[in-house]
Amino acid sequence: EVMIIDFGGQYNQLIARRVRDLHVYCEVVPYKKVDQYLEKHRPQGIIFTGGPNSVYVDDAPKIDLKIYDLGIPILGLCYGMQRMAVDLGGQVSRSQSREFGKTPTSFDSQAKLFKGIGDSITWMSHQDFVTQVPQGFETVASTQSTPNTAMANEDKKLYGVQFHPEVNHTEKGQDMLRNFLYDICGLEGKWTMDRYAKTAIEGIRKQVGQGKVLLALSGGVDSSVCAKLLEKAIGDQLTCIFVDHGLMRKNEGDEVEAAFKDTDLHFIRVNAEDRFLARLKGVTDPEEKRKIIGEEFIRVFEEEGRKIGSVDYLAQGTIYPDIIESGAGDAAVIKSHHNVGGLPAVVDFKGLVEPLRQLFKDEVRELGQELGLADYLVWRQPFPGPGLGIRVMGEISKERLDILRDADAIYREEIAKAGLDRSINQYFAVLTNNRTVGVMGDYRTYDYTLALRAVETTDFMTADWSKIPYEVLEKISSRIVGEVDHINRIVYDITSKPPATIEWE
Ligand code: XMP
Repeated sequence: EVMIIDFGGQYNQLIARRVRDLHVYCEVVPYKKVDQYLEKHRPQGIIFTGGPNSVYVDDAPKIDLKIYDLGIPILGLCYGMQRMAVDLGGQVSRSQSREFGKTPTSFDSQAKLFKGIGDSITWMSHQDFVTQVPQGFETVASTQSTPNTAMANEDKKLYGVQFHPEVNHTEKGQDMLRNFLYDICGLEGKWTMDRYAKTAIEGIRKQVGQGKVLLALSGGVDSSVCAKLLEKAIGDQLTCIFVDHGLMRKNEGDEVEAAFKDTDLHFIRVNAEDRFLARLKGVTDPEEKRKIIGEEFIRVFEEEGRKIGSVDYLAQGTIYPDIIESGAGDAAVIKSHHNVGGLPAVVDFKGLVEPLRQLFKDEVRELGQELGLADYLVWRQPFPGPGLGIRVMGEISKERLDILRDADAIYREEIAKAGLDRSINQYFAVLTNNRTVGVMGDYRTYDYTLALRAVETTDFMTADWSKIPYEVLEKISSRIVGEVDHINRIVYDITSKPPATIEWE
């Protein structure tokens, strides 16, 4: 495995994903926890990430220098290279101007890291740079403004690059990482989801024994894959409670039920639409809606949980980004459902089962496919816990939810037909509470405006609005207005995040 030492750079998760794409297992470790990590692990390769600091400021992130003597190959990226340079006796300075963006770079293809790599474009984002490489190192790449763009000490297997190989704009970035992992560290691409499934299943059996496990199944990718994996591991020792709050998209509740009903696990669908709608009546404030939906969810889950009697473990579909974001592998953090502070004491339980803790989202999908989970669950786009409750603006009613459901279904159908459903990361319709005047035949109408949203993003923290072709938008618009009553106008949201958010409420 590979240890990625996190110095606070913005691309840290991306580095980990690139390493995983090469089928090598890696973990992101905050720089302050390196010693702790090394007590339990023996990585075969180490990567230093970038970071926002300058190596010369007082509180610049540092690690124990003994790391360089472990005989483990190290690759430093950006700040990571500067850190290595200064630690080993080289020098770093601040230049007058930033080197930023796509930059033509020449490579010494004799260096092991750059084997097979000719001059090409790299992605730069730095102001500090290495002015003098440490003793024992050679300069192995350069750009017009940065002579020491990369350095190598082949004997000690220490490498540093000033650019970001993990960013797609670095043309040969993935080849460099491959050289590092396979040739320099001697790793093999053994991290695959079919192997993972086998080990995870054994691990679950060992942890749980004959115990009973309870899972809140939302029908999202994570909880669905988690359910499927647990079912393979422990079959009918698992109970899944699916709370249908009536705020799902069209047919979604039935799809979830169809996927799990006739399997070994105990599947309980709670149709709680009336309860949720009753509590949401007259509520228009988005945060208030979220709070009510979250509370009601817990309440329903608790009631059902009590009915099934004692349970030994609570399972949840926590994934690796949840853990990195919450402070890198500290004590079990309860994934918050519907933005409420975690699951309640449903029943006494001995512990948590979180079989997806090590996986990124794309790995979860791959695992789902491996386990034979239906495509419509594996490829489901992210859906907020409060569901359509925050996509019907203003007051929620069954009638308005149904209007939105029908419109949203047409939108999704046309996006899929156009082959855009996997390249657009999230797309949905919003029913505004704005009414406008229209004409339909000889009649004047006064009906709702529907908004369409579609974004492309990897992290959902920032997002670009998607450039859906006009013909596709046209088809969607005419079908929705033609087929769904009470919508007479459609607008397309052309704001990125920031400044807008992805959802409207
Ligand atoms: P925003 O609108 O903040 O959304 O740009 C970012 C991502 O989070 C989802 N989202 C939620 N998920 N409960 C959730 O479980 C919520 O209350 C919630 N609000 C937003 C949103 O769909 C997007 O994927």
